Amino acid sequence: MTNALTCDGLRYSFGDTLAVAGLDLSVTQGEIFGLLGPNGAGKTTAIRCVTTLLPVQPGMVRVFDRDAAEDRMAVRRLLGYVPQQLSADARLTGRENVSLFARVFDIPRRERAARVEQALEAVGLTDVADRMAATFSGGMIRRLELAQALVSAPRLLMLDEPTIGLDPIARTSVWEHIQAVRAATGMTVLVTTHYMDEADQYCDRVALMHQGLIRAMGAPGELTAELRERRGDGSAPTLEDVFREVAGSGLDEEGGKFRDVRRTRNTARRLG
Ligand SMILES: Nc1ncnc2c1ncn2[C@@H]1O[C@H](COP(=O)(O)OP(=O)(O)O)[C@@H](O)[C@H]1O
Ligand SMILES: [Mg+2]
Repeated sequence: MTNALTCDGLRYSFGDTLAVAGLDLSVTQGEIFGLLGPNGAGKTTAIRCVTTLLPVQPGMVRVFDRDAAEDRMAVRRLLGYVPQQLSADARLTGRENVSLFARVFDIPRRERAARVEQALEAVGLTDVADRMAATFSGGMIRRLELAQALVSAPRLLMLDEPTIGLDPIARTSVWEHIQAVRAATGMTVLVTTHYMDEADQYCDRVALMHQGLIRAMGAPGELTAELRERRGDGSAPTLEDVFREVAGSGLDEEGGKFRDVRRTRNTARRLG
């Protein structure tokens, strides 16, 4: 079966900073795949390469067997993308925001209204769809952005830190809607997060990324079971323990912190 996404030696530099340093990754159709790592690991850069927002060399990124360098528009049509930064317009209603994306994605006029309603329904915002987005809570805004990305019925949905800065209840709600959409459509989901506990709970497989490279990959339960075996002391390690082991001492160096307080706060403020 064709992979939803294949990265083969994906590299990307900003000047002297090698943000993604040779990423090998296969995401199977229909799975919820988590790209995990502390701030600065290179998750957003990798995602932006897949979306074709950053240029890559041929052969580095394939989405459903279309090459991101050679077949850019085809790749874009297969994708939905919710960036880490907010993308909903506060001055529009929920429904208007989703309609805007339906027009941008060129959904035929006669299908548009139904597709917008479907997307709002999928994220549980039907009842509040006529309210201005400015009145939405952070969690509702995130779900609205999810609806915006869903309206084009993407085959690969990419979510960059969908739960950053949200309270635990809003975070759970975002994840439950992601899972429900996957169950209803079979859509493949690639999600980044630095919340290891969420990934453990909701992702089928994860890749642990640190300083531009993947250090471990597998089902969360497999990764923790392997570490448990290696330790052999009967303790029950978490995904965060696995991460600490594979990342080694580099984890606490500059740029490799688990939570970049400043950036988290900035996003949280915008969500507030
Ligand atoms: N536009 C940019 N210009 C220069 N450096 C950048 C830019 N975006 C990201 N970086 C650097 O690339 C590295 C990876 O960043 P990023 O992909 O945003 O990581 P993550 O999403 O995992 O937090 C970091 O060292 C970051 O400082
Ligand atoms: Mg990021």
